[in-house]
Amino acid sequence: MPHKDLLDIESLKREEIEHLLEQAIPFKDLFTRSVKKVPALKGKSVLMLFYEASTRTHSSFEVAAKRLSADVTNFDVAHSSITKGESVRETIETLQAMRSDFIIVRHSRSGLPATIAKLTRASVINAGDGAHAHPTQALLDAFTIKEKFPDPTGKRVLIVGDILHSRVARSTSTILKKIGVEVAYLGPGSLVPRTGPENIRRFTDYQAAMAWAPDVVYLLRVQMERQDVQYFPSLREYHRLYGVTDARLAEIRERGLYLMHPGPVNRGVELCDAVMDYERSLINDQVENGIAVRMAVLYWLKPGAVMG
Ligand code: CP
Repeated sequence: MPHKDLLDIESLKREEIEHLLEQAIPFKDLFTRSVKKVPALKGKSVLMLFYEASTRTHSSFEVAAKRLSADVTNFDVAHSSITKGESVRETIETLQAMRSDFIIVRHSRSGLPATIAKLTRASVINAGDGAHAHPTQALLDAFTIKEKFPDPTGKRVLIVGDILHSRVARSTSTILKKIGVEVAYLGPGSLVPRTGPENIRRFTDYQAAMAWAPDVVYLLRVQMERQDVQYFPSLREYHRLYGVTDARLAEIRERGLYLMHPGPVNRGVELCDAVMDYERSLINDQVENGIAVRMAVLYWLKPGAVMG
């Protein structure tokens, strides 16, 4: 069945995930050619509706849409009537007049992209909603891992940090489990919820987590903007207990582990400066793969289809 929207990873079957990841490969190959554009979405329009800041997701969706020859409109939230109190519903009803084929939305409120999807025939892509979901981040993470481990079955990914507030942790751990990867969480007890997804080991001690023998260490950004109370004594203490310090990087290098981070990074908190030059850091690969994966998503979704 065609999907109209991409709102979360839970709604995707394993074969649909595998199909999207396969489809991203030729789109990535396009980057190395002199002609980087294909006419796949010629005549289609993409509306970017970002109520929260973004560098990677916003720019890579824009590049992806343009490489598919779609027309892109950036809705300027800061200078819109939203600043005069207009509701999201009124905004969407007004924007309907533009007859966009795709609406890419990021908002601090969990579930808002799903609400918008019900109001419009356009395909809605969730570019991150509160602490709920970030499905295209999850797809690009899975793609990046599969580039290193073509059969990722049984590989182990340790996700470190602020699990509680992280839409990336939720979506990425869901997709990894769907493709057969084992997942564990590591972080302060206050930021690693006991309830939630099953079959995920939870650690609060760094050495115990490393003894689990991960293949990939996936660092999360500490999201100070979503923390309403203090969850750990200080950022310095967080770095000491859970950050990739110079000493931990030496151990990670010795073991040959890959390092990932969705960005933006807090240097001196999740990781030390030297991580950026680590030969098995996949952080830049994640950014590059984001374009190919988002091209695959735009190409796959069917605006106006019945299924969500
Ligand atoms: N990973 C991610 O969502 O980054 P941005 O906030 O820069 O889009």
